[in-house]
Amino acid sequence: MQLGQYAAPRHVVAHLSDPHLIGGGALHYGVIDNDANLRRTLDRLAAVQPAPHAIVFTGDLADQAEPDAYERLRSIVEPFAAGIGATLVWTMGNHDERAPFAKALFDSDDAGCQDRVHEVDGLRIVALDTSVPGYHHGELLPEQLTWLADVLATPAEHGTLLAMHHPPLPLPMIRAAELIELHDQQALADVIAGTDVRGILAGHLHYSTNGMFAGVPVSVAAATCYTMDLARPAAEVNGMDAGQSFHLVHVYDDTITHAVVPVVDALTGEYFSAEWVQRMAALTPAERLEAFSRKPGR
Ligand SMILES: [Fe+2]
Ligand SMILES: [Fe+2]
Repeated sequence: MQLGQYAAPRHVVAHLSDPHLIGGGALHYGVIDNDANLRRTLDRLAAVQPAPHAIVFTGDLADQAEPDAYERLRSIVEPFAAGIGATLVWTMGNHDERAPFAKALFDSDDAGCQDRVHEVDGLRIVALDTSVPGYHHGELLPEQLTWLADVLATPAEHGTLLAMHHPPLPLPMIRAAELIELHDQQALADVIAGTDVRGILAGHLHYSTNGMFAGVPVSVAAATCYTMDLARPAAEVNGMDAGQSFHLVHVYDDTITHAVVPVVDALTGEYFSAEWVQRMAALTPAERLEAFSRKPGR
């Protein structure tokens, strides 16, 4: 059913980030329940229709990289993704460690760079590992960039999304974040120039933002665990147990939209419904204008 100028999106992707699950299910900073916040996020995602074709997690999956944190994450998310038939994309973050990440999420003993290519009905999603063992800043090694260039040498039917933890963007809101940014971003720009990369999904910041990098839109999802209270001086921005959200990415032939979905339990209206939409769909475009666009009494 099409009521406006655009047909339905070809792909829907759920973009979640930074669950930071903790070994033993301990509270983050002694107060924030990251497991519960992830489950609340998935409860909200479960209500979304159409259901996403892919679920992308852009890193910081486990806060201290404990094996049981990854195992719990997999046990929570994998059945959920399978239940809606969605491809699951895991991306490394600076809090993750390659060996336990690979073991728990991919049953793999390969503790090298965790770069992977996923194909979702003609949409290619490349998970890029920007982590640096032992550090929190990000980088892509020359061999990773060579690998990426090789992958991108063959265009995908509906283009490519890059999923990477450290966003290739300026970070004006948090002074501390500049110390752990992605290094040598120009090298990545050189690789993606002229390719079929249509969007970059990132995390790391614990707030939702977007910008352009090398002509490609970058969308940063906030965290499922805690978010940054930005209504402070940049030098004093800290985390808060509020404002959690995830993104819904709608991929069209000519554009991609990113919607921020708040994870809240709030009083919500009931005016619009499937029945209401059916009633509108039964009208001609001119009748719809009168039925809904026309301001009452004008
Ligand atoms: Fe994080
Ligand atoms: Fe991070």
